[in-house]
Amino acid sequence: MASYPHVVEAPFNKVFNQNHTLSGRWNKDFFKNENPIVLELGCGKGEYTVGLARLFPQKNFIGVDIKGNRMHRGATDAMNEGLRNVGFLRTRIEAIHAFFGPSEVDEIWLTFPDPQIKKYRKRLTSTRFLEAYARFLKPGGIIHLKTDSAFMYTYTRELLKENQIDPLVDEDDLYAGNYQDEILSIQTYYERKWLDHGISIKYLKFRLSGVFGLKEPEVEIEPDSYRSAGRGVKARRTGNSK
Ligand SMILES: C[S@@+](CC[C@H](N)C(=O)[O-])C[C@H]1O[C@@H](n2cnc3c(N)ncnc32)[C@H](O)[C@@H]1O
Repeated sequence: MASYPHVVEAPFNKVFNQNHTLSGRWNKDFFKNENPIVLELGCGKGEYTVGLARLFPQKNFIGVDIKGNRMHRGATDAMNEGLRNVGFLRTRIEAIHAFFGPSEVDEIWLTFPDPQIKKYRKRLTSTRFLEAYARFLKPGGIIHLKTDSAFMYTYTRELLKENQIDPLVDEDDLYAGNYQDEILSIQTYYERKWLDHGISIKYLKFRLSGVFGLKEPEVEIEPDSYRSAGRGVKARRTGNSK
């Protein structure tokens, strides 16, 4: 992908303790327009990034993942279709704050992230990550979580409740009810896989505004039986689980 102009690859050590040169400059230097920027974190093959870019030519979309071979699929589709409002960023999400300046991003999609049952700090909706996102999201910017995992869904709901954040949308079985949205009909590789296994898809949409000092929820949540056969785990764990 080194030859793809719409793919930025940045090893961790390049942004350790310093911002990337595109931070605060994606509109001006990368997309060359002033349209809103939407991220998909853990984009895998980038189905949401590319699917949303087709639906919304007046917005810019950036898929972020560490795995180049998966991202290659979406990056190639975007190039073949001539989509000029798509970019891909290959990096670890732990370093995401180094790539974007304050208020640079309008929305974030988290599509089927690993629930990280044992390590709450690695969950992409943990306080650690939400506080990192808040540094570059516009005040009141939107986060979407689509997941197969009842554990991840319950953990995120509890975290929102603990911090008095009311979800804008909360669906525990997206395709069973009447909730319909063209955007939500985009399906990723993992979404199709879980649907084939008869697992329901859960969806949360919420706003983040100036949320520093967020609290982790302290509740027992049953792990997903199809993912692990472990006992209930605390949403937040202390000690060496970090
Ligand atoms: C379960 S897959 C979901 C992929 C895609 N969103 C989908 O629904 O098909 C999780 C993705 O997140 C990426 N990922 C997990 N942790 C990451 C991290 N810390 N930094 C960057 N990417 C990460 C993985 O490489 C993987 O592609």
